[in-house]
Amino acid sequence: MEAPHDRKARNRTGSRLAPFGTTIFSTITAKANASGAINLGQGFPDSDPPRELIELVSDMHHAGRNQYSPMPGLPSLRSAVSKDRERRGFTSWDPDSEITITSGATEALAATFLGLLEIGDEVILFDPAYDAYPAGISMSGAVPVRLSTEDDDFQITRSALESALTSRTKMVVLNTPWNPTGRVVSESEIELIADLCRRHDLICISDEVYERLVFEGRHRSIADLPGMRERSVVVSSLGKRYSCTGWKIGWACASEPMTEAIRAAHQFLVFSVPEPLQHAAHHALTRLDEAWEQDLHETYRHRRTLLFDGLRSAGLRPRVTEGSYFILAETGKDDVDDVAFCERMISDARVAAIPASIFTHQGSGCRSHVRFAFCKAERDLTEAIARITRMRSGT
Ligand SMILES: Cc1ncc(COP(=O)(O)O)c(C=O)c1O
Repeated sequence: MEAPHDRKARNRTGSRLAPFGTTIFSTITAKANASGAINLGQGFPDSDPPRELIELVSDMHHAGRNQYSPMPGLPSLRSAVSKDRERRGFTSWDPDSEITITSGATEALAATFLGLLEIGDEVILFDPAYDAYPAGISMSGAVPVRLSTEDDDFQITRSALESALTSRTKMVVLNTPWNPTGRVVSESEIELIADLCRRHDLICISDEVYERLVFEGRHRSIADLPGMRERSVVVSSLGKRYSCTGWKIGWACASEPMTEAIRAAHQFLVFSVPEPLQHAAHHALTRLDEAWEQDLHETYRHRRTLLFDGLRSAGLRPRVTEGSYFILAETGKDDVDDVAFCERMISDARVAAIPASIFTHQGSGCRSHVRFAFCKAERDLTEAIARITRMRSGT
């Protein structure tokens, strides 16, 4: 007979999720906390959202906004999302039938995969890819088809795209600005993807959560290209833009038939998201002084330079971040792989970062790349650089 501890030890995770284990972000954050390391791993800012948003959330709780909110999201917030996109020159979406407020971009992605995919459908991902994509695709019974971009300097090429295409391809996931590469995907690459989608009747999920953190070039949304509005799902969220990643307020914008599918999943995943936070999101998008966002942008621009220069002088080879708050750096002279490098960095230098291979198929790519987050206090970035420099010079 099985002893109770054997039952506990047995892996009960279903086959769709078993390969994914616990996310690296939780693992690295736990290790960083345990060893008192400076955490440049998980991408959350260590500063607060605007004070007036926090106060509004608190006021709403006290005003009794503590019950279920409408399933697709507050109408006022959906309308604010639509106007915000329109004001910035992007395609606008009908707030009633084309926008759904979700529990962060993460749930928007999951609801899109679950709502739109059939078992056995194939979805093209560009590696290195954010880890929620393959997991969400697998949860829906579909198959992630992962295209490595490492040998092409993280560019998306026509030949790679064409090689991934089969009769089962249903969807492509595009992420720009791109976590973890820090690239803003170019107009010509977006045009390539759009061309493929139009010719083969594919859907494109466009994950734009870093759309407001662009330092080089210009953010473009694939939904704005001819013939792409009806085949795109634009996903974004409040967290990166207003330093409130823990609030998990996101949205999915898509044509009415696709929105119906997304909501079909959303209603059974979470049904609705907390009303006080939606009021704060509405306030942020409609009433907040733009100077707040500009300040944050300038702060990040400065920290991007600080970390880039520091990593370079420590002997790593960082890429210039065009967008997002991450720097992808090559480890250079070390002959250990990225996982060993990050483990050594936590134990010897007490600095945590993310090994980039976890963003690739079975950890097979980007073995000499590490991702650092620069949405952290300047003194922590400076101290982290000093520690890495000491580790690299063996002092
Ligand atoms: C590319 C990308 N998409 C989606 C998300 C999740 O966003 P949210 O926190 O709004 O769920 C993240 C978070 O780090 C991300 O990097």
